[in-house]
Amino acid sequence: MRIAVGSDHRGVSMRLKVVGLLHRLGQEVVDVGSGDTECVDYPDVAAQVAGRVSRGEVDRGILICGTGLGMSIAANKFQGVRAAPCHDYLTAEMSRRHNDLNVLCLSGDILGERLVDRLVEIWLNTEFDGGRHERRVAKIKALEKSNGSSTAST
Ligand code: RB5
Repeated sequence: MRIAVGSDHRGVSMRLKVVGLLHRLGQEVVDVGSGDTECVDYPDVAAQVAGRVSRGEVDRGILICGTGLGMSIAANKFQGVRAAPCHDYLTAEMSRRHNDLNVLCLSGDILGERLVDRLVEIWLNTEFDGGRHERRVAKIKALEKSNGSSTAST
């Protein structure tokens, strides 16, 4: 897979470790930086990664900030992007199986390195379940197109 990875200043060391892990796993990495030498605003980095996912230039993205929250809020503004913070094995797995998450957001402040390695591996190796979840993800896409005015049936 081709995966874009970005961080703000709070996620730099975690980003470098994740990039190393992805290389070891044989993935193609687009490292957009940043924050290595100065404070950066997480929406600017989220735009670099989520924009690439939205335009289909990469298959998936990984974003790291202090909590993973700001990155996910910003990334979800991009069409076709489904981003969320994952912080344990279950959220990493279910984000793929049920939500077809294409941008994984991680906390550089809270999560340990070994846990992050495992979360990334689970997230990379877990397939979308499809079926009824396909319908639900399609409804998310419809909301995006209608700017939230779609009425969802049950
Ligand atoms: C930066 O101080 C911090 O706000 C950012 O890394 C992130 O945690 C935002 O959600």
